[in-house]
Amino acid sequence: MTAPRFGGPWTQQKLEILRRYLDAYTTALKNQPFSLTYMDAFAGAGAYSTPDDEYREFNELRRGSTQLAIEVDDKPIDRLIFVELVRERVELLRGLRDRHADRGIIVVEGDANEEIPAFCNSMNWDDRAVVFLDPFKTEVSWSTVAAIAETQK
Ligand SMILES: C[S@@+](CC[C@H](N)C(=O)[O-])C[C@H]1O[C@@H](n2cnc3c(N)ncnc32)[C@H](O)[C@@H]1O
Repeated sequence: MTAPRFGGPWTQQKLEILRRYLDAYTTALKNQPFSLTYMDAFAGAGAYSTPDDEYREFNELRRGSTQLAIEVDDKPIDRLIFVELVRERVELLRGLRDRHADRGIIVVEGDANEEIPAFCNSMNWDDRAVVFLDPFKTEVSWSTVAAIAETQK
């Protein structure tokens, strides 16, 4: 099984923004009575390389969004849910989960537009979550965005 190859320098910029956001978010809520969930609804494979990656001949892989979320360490996220449609990537995510068996990682093989509303409906009063939407194209349904907004969380 191989990690996917996509994106470019903008991919690294996007993921750096995510890393900083998660760091700030978890620090801001550190002393609040909330249970924190990170849902990566278009999770990928845990790692990737870009077509113009100068190191690709050495098989150097970059850490994807799921790995960055696992690594948040100021206030580790309580629960991480990774949703992915493509079975080969789901298998790689299960390997990532097994290498971090103490982190409460749930890997779901499924469609983000079904899994996100189900997650939103399951949230308790003390749940707070970051839902990261990183599709390749226009796979996010408007009703999915509306379901997130309706939680007011
Ligand atoms: C841009 S990649 C995600 C990259 C990931 N954030 C990372 O940093 O490695 C988008 C992923 O969404 C998956 N995908 C596409 N449609 C989906 C859907 N409806 N539900 C869940 N995953 C989907 C694709 O298989 C692909 O792995």
